[in-house]
This record gives sequence, structure tokens and C-alpha cells, in this order.
Amino acid sequence: MSNLLTEHLAKFSEAEWLAAVDEILPCVHDVDKNALQIWFRFFPLELQQYAAKFEDRGELIRGLALQGDFEIAAQIDRSHHFLYGHRYWAKVKCVIEKMAESEPPDALVMTKNGSTRKSAADADGCNPDCGLVDVIKEVGLLAAEKLKVERKLTNAIAAVGLATLNQVGLEAFKAAEGKIIEPTGLMKKSPDTIVAERAKDDSQGFFGFLKTVDKKFSLEFLANNYSGKFPVLNDQQVTHASGLDRSQNWQEKDDRCWEGPIPVECTSASCGTCWVGVLAGEEKLSEVSRREKRAMKVFGYNQPEGEKPFLRLACQVKAYGNVTVAIPSWNGVFGKKVRGNVEDVELEPNTTSAKRLREVVKSAVSGE
Ligand code: FES
Repeated sequence: MSNLLTEHLAKFSEAEWLAAVDEILPCVHDVDKNALQIWFRFFPLELQQYAAKFEDRGELIRGLALQGDFEIAAQIDRSHHFLYGHRYWAKVKCVIEKMAESEPPDALVMTKNGSTRKSAADADGCNPDCGLVDVIKEVGLLAAEKLKVERKLTNAIAAVGLATLNQVGLEAFKAAEGKIIEPTGLMKKSPDTIVAERAKDDSQGFFGFLKTVDKKFSLEFLANNYSGKFPVLNDQQVTHASGLDRSQNWQEKDDRCWEGPIPVECTSASCGTCWVGVLAGEEKLSEVSRREKRAMKVFGYNQPEGEKPFLRLACQVKAYGNVTVAIPSWNGVFGKKVRGNVEDVELEPNTTSAKRLREVVKSAVSGE
């Protein structure tokens, strides 16, 4: 099933979607700024397009060492659970479906560059030249009007909704129920409160100012079907702190969690299992090393430039304060095969179980 809207969205490359996300960021509430950028890294268009060419799913999964739920089609209603705007999903989905089904789309007049309706874009002062931004903002505006909430709260989930439609097609999009995961804990509060609370560090007590290495903080995590927090000491590696949390059987929730709530395998930047999106507190993590940066490229994860980006390998970072992360539902090694941008590598899996990835990592580098 295809129509003007789906055909229009299909014209844009992953780089163009990411450019649209960058452009719309000033019009997104702080609570969802990192979350929006993380979602587009967790569900890369280039990987979905590469996967679509494979009839043999087993061959695809083996070839890219994929683990977990990497296909967005199976998680249309929940892939964005870590966005504040997730609570508006049912309405946003409805707006997108209506827009997709009107011929021509009643809210948009398509030209070869995209929408010509500028009202939504102009009101927030964003550059209206990018057709993709216009469409996103139109969906955000219509949803915000129906929900009677600020548009800054619906723009991120609007962008995610349109990207989801683009990846799964109208038929599958419509078939999803539109059910959300009810917010719990801090996520039940107002967006401003969430931003303020996430920025705070745990109190170190009355004589906290005397503490140095023994300072204790919290790492909050949001995964597809579980969430919570564990303590992390000042300067402690995040996966080490996660591994000490034996409060639940984490592997029952996710096969990849054999030691703590954060999926982990090699602990040496060699397998890509432990990648996370940092929703808040990225400035309270250690800087990216050359090794982590190179490994991210090999795996295919689109880590932004900068010393403290919002996409990290948890086994390579140390925490110096409270941090909130989103855990992706999958991991893989696809940099060379999908993105073709890996030249060489010095990755050495150092655990028995990680050694099965050795061949995949080798072929990711050689491109065989
Ligand atoms: S656990 Fe393998 S890269 Fe972090």
C-alpha cells in the first residue's frame, strides 16, 4: 500500500532524516531532545533498507551478528517508549494515518521539494525549506491541537511516527494497535520536572563535600519491557556497576542481560552489545576514547562527534554523577556491510562467548 505521503517520505535518505531531526530540535522540549536523536540512531534507516533485501532472515542475522529485536515492524507501538511524547502516540498515529489516507493529503500540498504549507514551520521560526521538516511539524501541530498540549511536546513523537511509517509501510502501521506503555516513576511527572530531576545528583549526605572516590550516584535505565536504577560509584565503569545489581533475574527480561540490567558481553569494546542512548547526564560520563569511537563505526552505530555524545558503549564509560540511559532492544555488527565506512580495526574479543563474534567482526572489516 503506498500513497503520496509514503512516497514522499521514501525519497529521503538516512542523512536527510537526521538533518531534519537536527533542524527540528529547537522546536522540541528539552525532555525529548536527546531521546529523539537516540531513536533515530537505535532504528537506522540504512539498516532497515539493507535488511529488506534479505529473504533469508537467518542469513541476515548471522551475517550481521544481530541479537534482540532489531526490526521496527515488530515494535511499532513501543520502540519509542523512552520518549516523553510516547504518551501521545495513539493521537499522533491517528493524525499520520488520516494524513496518509487523504488523496491528496489534505494538510499538505506536495511539491517536488515537499510541503508548501509553511504555517507550522514559520510559527516556530524553523527553516521551512526542508520538506521533511514541514511534514513533521504539521503532524506535531495537528496532534498538539487535538491533545491541547504544547507543540514542543508532540514534535519529537511526530518525527518518530513518520519515520516509523516510512520504515514499515502504511499497512503494518495501521495494523498496530496504538497502545502505549503507561509511564511509571519519574516519567509520570511534568516534562519540566523530569528535566530538573534528571539533572540532579544524589545527595552525598551532610559531609558529602568531604567525599571523593566514595561518592555514590544513580544510573536510571529504560528498556523496552523493564526500567529501574542501580547505584554507581564515582569513577566506576557503568557495566561493572550494572553487573553488581542482582536484584532481579535480568536475563528473563532480555537474553543479552546475563550480568545486570544493561546487556553486556565482551566488556572490551569488541562486540557492540552494551550500547546505550544517554537521555540525560552525558556530561557526567567519561570522554569517548579513540577505541570506543572506532568500535562504534565498526558496529555501525551512528555515534555523534564530540567528547561526550549521547550514544555510548556502556562498558567503556565511567560515571561521575546521576545519568539516565535508554537501552536499545538489539545490537549487531553492520558498519562495513551497511554503511561501508570502516577501514581497519583492532578489535579483539576477550571472552569465550564473545569469540563467536570474531569472524563477524573480521568480515565487517574486510567486507567479505
Ligand atoms: S560489552 Fe562488548 S562492546 Fe561493551
